[in-house]
Amino acid sequence: MVQKVTVVGAGNVGATCVDELARMNVCKEIVLVDIKEGIPEGKALDMWQTSSLLQFDTRIIGAANDYTKTAGSDIVVITAGLPRKPGMSRDDLISINAKIVKDVTESIMKYNENPIIIVVSNPLDVMTYTAFLASGLKSDRVFGMAGVLDAARFRAFIAEELNTTPGSVETQLLGGHGDTMVPLPRFTTVAGIPVEQLIEKEKLDAMIERTKNGGGEIVKLMGTSAWYAPGLSAAVMVRAIATDSKAILPVCAALNGEYGMKDLYLGVPVVLGKNGVEKIIELDLNEEEMALLNESASHVRKVMKVLDDMNFFAAKYGGE
Ligand code: LAC
Repeated sequence: MVQKVTVVGAGNVGATCVDELARMNVCKEIVLVDIKEGIPEGKALDMWQTSSLLQFDTRIIGAANDYTKTAGSDIVVITAGLPRKPGMSRDDLISINAKIVKDVTESIMKYNENPIIIVVSNPLDVMTYTAFLASGLKSDRVFGMAGVLDAARFRAFIAEELNTTPGSVETQLLGGHGDTMVPLPRFTTVAGIPVEQLIEKEKLDAMIERTKNGGGEIVKLMGTSAWYAPGLSAAVMVRAIATDSKAILPVCAALNGEYGMKDLYLGVPVVLGKNGVEKIIELDLNEEEMALLNESASHVRKVMKVLDDMNFFAAKYGGE
């Protein structure tokens, strides 16, 4: 149980995150912040009015443009930024969202000494790095939500194919939150049974492709990006921290030599607990998996370079 969680961005993803988190009953108070006057206050009030029906105690407060209300947050979730429109990749959002994420992080750091920050804004891996640099926090306290969502999509597709309960599907997933993400069939089981024994390769490959384009499939259908699974996935990460569960989840984390990489934020399995990323787990990858991870890392570095070329930060990102 933590005292206070702030969610920045009262759009669909942010509001869903608050809604799901309140139902989990793992924090005393949630503050929802946005730049649009009335929206965070209104959504917070609406959600707070579900408390007696849903039987949760978490107090939900909305605050437009008032970061003083965020003071003393244990955990901050940043969902602020523009979502994708059809035809846009997550990377197309970079210049606008980098400025938003930087400003939000600086505002948070004005009123919070040592929070844990979870970034949800896209392009995710680079926005997480942006928040890390802007915060001045240790890297194990700044990380991003993507793998929990991408893995949940993969799990849903597998459960559907096998006509079994989605909760019995376990998986790990690596890499950036984009088309180069690396779902790992070799690290996927259904009720303990390796998935490769249950689903033929061709079908599994198609599901991997569908997972990689999982966000885009929804953007195409709705004209904007998803929020139920993304909002819940962020709440699941908050819960792991708030309850110090030490859950092993795929998280966009700072690499400092793990997987032979550094100066980079990338999706890897981590142990999440009250101190944030308490451990990065290095899977024993085969050549093919490692090649896919390297390709994903190069892609993320390319997006980072766009910011670097804009002189967005004086600091160098390093790397290849
Ligand atoms: C998605 C967005 C949240 O994958 O990146 O749906």
